[in-house]
Amino acid sequence: MLDKLKDLEKEVLKMIGGVESVTGLETIRIKYLGRKGELTAFLRSLHKMAEPKRRTIGRKANELKKKIEKTIDDNKTLLQKGLIEGKVKEEWIDVTQSGTKRLLGHLYPVTQAIEEIRCIFESMGYEVVDGPEVEDDYHSFGALNILPEHPARDAWDTFYLTNGLLMRPHTSPVQIRTMKKRKPPLRFIVPGRVYRYEAEDATHLSVLHQLEGFAVDSNISFADLKGTLLSLMRSLFGKKTKLRFRPSFFPFTEPSAEVDVTCVVCGGKGCRSCGGDGWVELLGAGMIHHQVLRNVGYNPEKVSGFAFGIGLDRIAMIKYRIEDIRDLMKNDLRFLRQF
Ligand code: PHE
Repeated sequence: MLDKLKDLEKEVLKMIGGVESVTGLETIRIKYLGRKGELTAFLRSLHKMAEPKRRTIGRKANELKKKIEKTIDDNKTLLQKGLIEGKVKEEWIDVTQSGTKRLLGHLYPVTQAIEEIRCIFESMGYEVVDGPEVEDDYHSFGALNILPEHPARDAWDTFYLTNGLLMRPHTSPVQIRTMKKRKPPLRFIVPGRVYRYEAEDATHLSVLHQLEGFAVDSNISFADLKGTLLSLMRSLFGKKTKLRFRPSFFPFTEPSAEVDVTCVVCGGKGCRSCGGDGWVELLGAGMIHHQVLRNVGYNPEKVSGFAFGIGLDRIAMIKYRIEDIRDLMKNDLRFLRQF
């Protein structure tokens, strides 16, 4: 009997030693120590045996049971530890190694200017609207009081398409589209791209960006226009910024003005960037012409409004001290990364 136990011990330990998985060990445990296991059966059969043999053999058999249980448990722990260590080794990363830097882009300078201006106007209760870049004659000119033979059309000469439509030369058509759709009170800005038949130079582009602004309500006066533009320019360029209104002409505003701001480089003293003048021309503005209000079905006796159109590329030029406006269109990353 003792020999039989010895053989069993050898056999089991050898088997355990040869197993390399947790499930393999579990199979061995069931084979010997499970309910129908070999050692379990042996222990059950002991009651048939006579004393004192039963006691010695019983003790031995119980010791063997404990030994097998312990060896299986120990090996299980070892295997699990090995598995974890293997995983750790496999998935190890060197956190001290320097990584590859991801190239993050940023907003285009004119878009940055639009965003800044949008925030300023939104704080004054303005909405943002959009309009088509391919326009018809009526919205670009007719409704804005620019009649077919009027010489003022030359100022907005643009690119005509073969179907009678044209690339919009200014954002003012969106005034008409919005006023026709909505009823006063209105407060809107329209940032967008416009097209002009223009010889390009350091301060002129033929594809450029404008920001139209307009407000229509009862009792809107020129003072409101001045106040609105002054808050805008002071938020953009600093509290000391001054504005200069020069009388001008636009068929869709009356009275009309051209508006200059004090040069940000010299503060108004006169320098190379402002051509020694101290002022930089930035926008056209005025009170919306009564005829334009009538064209969209408003009663000029009841409502009035102002409108202005700002050159956004000029704003970006001043803000970022860009010397040649054409650089904005070249897509040269060395240039664009500076802003
Ligand atoms: N649309 C005019 C231009 O492009 C600017 C402007 C807008 C003037 C609104 C007055 C009022 O030159």
